Amino acid sequence: MKILGPDFLVFGIDDVDAGHRCAVDYGLKVVEKGAHGGTYEALDGTGIVIRRSSDPGLLPATAAKPGLRETRYGVADKATLQAIGAELSKDRDVKELANGLLQSTDADGYHIAFEVTGRRPIDGPWYGINVPGQPPGRGMNVTATTIDEPDIRPYTLSHVVMFTRDKVKSENFYAARLGFRTVDSFSNLGPFMRPQGTHDHHTLFLIQAPPRGMEHFTFHFAGANEVLKAGWEFSRKGYKSFWGPGRHILGSNYFWYFNSPFGGNIEFDADMDIHDDSWRPRSVPMSVDASQSFLLQYADKWAPTGGPPKH
Ligand SMILES: [Fe+2]
Repeated sequence: MKILGPDFLVFGIDDVDAGHRCAVDYGLKVVEKGAHGGTYEALDGTGIVIRRSSDPGLLPATAAKPGLRETRYGVADKATLQAIGAELSKDRDVKELANGLLQSTDADGYHIAFEVTGRRPIDGPWYGINVPGQPPGRGMNVTATTIDEPDIRPYTLSHVVMFTRDKVKSENFYAARLGFRTVDSFSNLGPFMRPQGTHDHHTLFLIQAPPRGMEHFTFHFAGANEVLKAGWEFSRKGYKSFWGPGRHILGSNYFWYFNSPFGGNIEFDADMDIHDDSWRPRSVPMSVDASQSFLLQYADKWAPTGGPPKH
């Protein structure tokens, strides 16, 4: 089944104005916005939908409000959509909407949906780095930074992390019913999984823990510089850092997590590992050393014109 990963996350939240500000401050482009909420997208057209918690068009909440109401996966073609419908309808309700969206639920009762992807080729600036001994990553006289840097934009929706009541049951559902592969696991938490339509280390991570709903979600940014710079600007706008910046070991992605109005954390992510089916999954217990290669802390800007930097 050629599932590419999440194309849209649909949120039901109480403060749609705070949601709007957060989406824009994060770098997403406004597709539509009104008193009802809004739709926001990354460079490839993946994105998030924000609606009021009470919106009758939303699917029922499966966790405390506010929060994620639906994960809409993009699939490669109609044949995949039909295969998913045939598979899931064996033991659960599957609803096909007039717009082609196929709605169902996963093993935890969370709403999942599938549609033929609307992802576009990414129209973003070339991202290159210069490494000694290797061909230049950037052209001659192309500077990586400028004083007036353009806004940083997320490239594509990367992954969503969900709490699960039963990590084995949930992993089996995504593997056996939807063709996801487990790439790595934290043995005491749960699996990192990727569907067959992407090589990304994970588009879904499951954490067995008492809370219900979403732990965090993130889009991919171009690289470490963009995660650090965008996160730095996000901090200056008053968003509270939850964890980071740092670099994970499983997946190798740079990360920086912040509190959000979406009922879970929002992350800035870049440079995730890619894998094919020859990869042998690792399974390690979660620990501070296993979960990150390094961890840094935000500081205000400083220049060597007087006293020492303030931390
Ligand atoms: Fe993440």
